[in-house]
Amino acid sequence: MTALTSEAPSTLADLVSPLTEPEFLGLLRGRQLAYRPGANGERYAPLLGWPALRRMIEAGNYPSKRPDDIRVTKEGIMVPADRWMTKGKVDAEKLEKFLASGFSIVIVHLDEHVPALAAVCEEIRSRILEASWVGAIVTSGAGAGAFQVHYDPEDLVILQVEGTKRWQIFGSPVSHPLRRMPKQSPPETEPIFDEVLEPGDLLFVPSGNWHHCESGLSTSVHLGIFFLPPTSWHAANEILRPFLAEELFRTPLTRLDGGSALEEVEAEVKSRLIEKIGELKLSEFIAGWSKVAS
Ligand SMILES: [Fe+2]
Repeated sequence: MTALTSEAPSTLADLVSPLTEPEFLGLLRGRQLAYRPGANGERYAPLLGWPALRRMIEAGNYPSKRPDDIRVTKEGIMVPADRWMTKGKVDAEKLEKFLASGFSIVIVHLDEHVPALAAVCEEIRSRILEASWVGAIVTSGAGAGAFQVHYDPEDLVILQVEGTKRWQIFGSPVSHPLRRMPKQSPPETEPIFDEVLEPGDLLFVPSGNWHHCESGLSTSVHLGIFFLPPTSWHAANEILRPFLAEELFRTPLTRLDGGSALEEVEAEVKSRLIEKIGELKLSEFIAGWSKVAS
């Protein structure tokens, strides 16, 4: 590990400073928006500014386990990977060209390559029991934005690392959103928050807050530390999943023998569901969550 790495925040308390850890945990619990200019982001700049990210890409760290850990996008429109890869490898020169024409580069699971970030995420998983990972968005040129107005189902600590980025947040937030829940339309009102983040600024954007960001004139990098808590919905899905291994649940209902066959299957399915629901233990589900969801 280099000297620069060891200076980067590697604990939750360092990460959220100047908020104290109890203050931050209160905001996280209450899903309350918070903005603290001049906080911690600058301490990540040597490690995760665009030149450092580019070096990581050139070293072949991306893509690693998941093909979409790196994406090129503009206002939510994705550029196919073959336009910025050469012979199966991400081509940093091609990425630069996309950046220069207003596209954004989204890189996720950075914590898998940066020990200081890995330590922060591991602390979140083991102490708060929530899933956690880190992403970066790189943009260049005034007005460039990766996504249209949207909300995320995860709570996000945003650290502006390099350049500037204008953040607009539109009220009211969607309450406790989860992925794949019915779509909602963004509010067509004036923003409740409109600030230009500078290097070192920290913004806590709780899940469900509609937001849009656009870059300043120079290259802009911000980090997002994601927090994904377990919910009863996740737990309910988890207990149903093993049914896939049971023939009872895979039998086509339209191809049963006539007579009372459907009623018999229904009685058996109900009985298996009731049995499984009786086994639900939320505390056990929570204990295993951060490993499976990160
Ligand atoms: Fe977002």
